[in-house]
Amino acid sequence: MKKIIKNGTIVTAADTYQADVLIENEKVKAIGNDLSDVYAEVIDASGLYVFPGGIDPHTHMEMPFGGTVTKDDFESGTIAAAHGGTTTIIDFCLTEKGKTLKSALEKWHAKSEGRAVIDYGFHLQIVEANETVLQEIPSIIEEEGVTSFKVFMAYKNVLQADDETLFQTLITAKDHGGLVMVHAENGDVIEYLTQEALKAGNTEPIYHALTRPPELEGEATGRAAKLTALANSQLYVVHVTCKEAVEQIAEARSKGFSVYGETCPQYLVLDQTYMEKPNFEGAKYVWSPPLRDKSNQEVLWNALKSGELQTIGSDHCSFDFDGQKDLGKDDFTKIPNGGPFVEDRFSVLFSEGVKKGRISLNQFVDMVSTQTAKLFGLFPQKGTIAPGTDADIVLFDPNVERTISANTHHMAVDYNALEGMKITGQPVTVLSRGEYVIKDKELVAKPGTGKFLKREKFNTVTQEDQKVESI
Ligand code: URP
Ligand code: ZN
Ligand code: ZN
Repeated sequence: MKKIIKNGTIVTAADTYQADVLIENEKVKAIGNDLSDVYAEVIDASGLYVFPGGIDPHTHMEMPFGGTVTKDDFESGTIAAAHGGTTTIIDFCLTEKGKTLKSALEKWHAKSEGRAVIDYGFHLQIVEANETVLQEIPSIIEEEGVTSFKVFMAYKNVLQADDETLFQTLITAKDHGGLVMVHAENGDVIEYLTQEALKAGNTEPIYHALTRPPELEGEATGRAAKLTALANSQLYVVHVTCKEAVEQIAEARSKGFSVYGETCPQYLVLDQTYMEKPNFEGAKYVWSPPLRDKSNQEVLWNALKSGELQTIGSDHCSFDFDGQKDLGKDDFTKIPNGGPFVEDRFSVLFSEGVKKGRISLNQFVDMVSTQTAKLFGLFPQKGTIAPGTDADIVLFDPNVERTISANTHHMAVDYNALEGMKITGQPVTVLSRGEYVIKDKELVAKPGTGKFLKREKFNTVTQEDQKVESI
């Protein structure tokens, strides 16, 4: 059925204005004043912002990790995402050594098919770069529509790849239009520091942070950026947490290299002291890279505002406190790494960013939606509101005050790392390709309405970046 959104304020990364939006056949059909159509349902958006749906570039649904499996699957995770104003996620598909990339994608399709209530795509992990893997990458890009590849520089003996793998992935991606993503921490040195901590009997959650200092994130970020420059390729650094890493990204960008960065709400509003909470509560805040000293929060906000970091991911990797986090009760290395943020990413950014005057309304849209669409081959189908785009739209009340809590969230986990945080603003109604997912704060979509997105290749023109020929 056609819909017309009336009386709202449309906000894109570029503009803020009042107009009606006509939706037909999954798309925005027209934008203008006093639109009318006798067959259209009229949605009154008085007092609401009309945002493009949020795009979360970083989730881990139903992912085996840390001796267990993440609690949210594609159904509960996308329902929570939609409640929070997100209409697209890009999830990390893990691969196994010795197996084809295609077989990993098949597994992820099997988990997600018929489950999601919003659209989704996949990034693919590269853990080894042998001939078979490198030869498969072009068809993964061209045929599977998976155009971004993740290399972990940490999690030794689990997910970590070596520098040769990273470099070969960068070269192959450049040749075929892929974007390489890195988890940038020096996994080898972390392993050494971890073993030293355990030998000394230091087993509490805080040692997770103390064995992964910011220098090791800065070092790995700089190394990945330099390898990218050498390969004349393109790099996206996930979950940037600290000054040391921001500086490396800023330096690479100042030299004209295609290096991009994401941070996450948790690093903007929480700090390392949370990991010292008594009674093992610190385990709720164990993820990698770890929370940092509070001074880094301002560094991250400034980097977002100045454009040195482009996107906000949730790094949603949810584990229950009871029964999952407590695997590491006597040994911090056994605490599954990750936290639940897919639902609150959008509103926390609005509340802490826009409402507190740190970023503009248009920058907010850019970070939570548009830039991700551009970097990951979804723009202009997703990431903005214009005639012809998918009608992924969030009607957002910018004035409602609320308190984040596990008692009211929709994620499948038994705690919320932002418990008690007071924020302003809430999605009221969420449309995915013109259909209601959330209507007046209630879920109406059925599992399976979200579809898999084949994405376009990485495009330097969209990024307005000048590629340089030499380092
Ligand atoms: O601790 C985290 N971040 N868990 C998810 C895996 C990753 O490193 O992104
Ligand atoms: Zn990571
Ligand atoms: Zn992650």
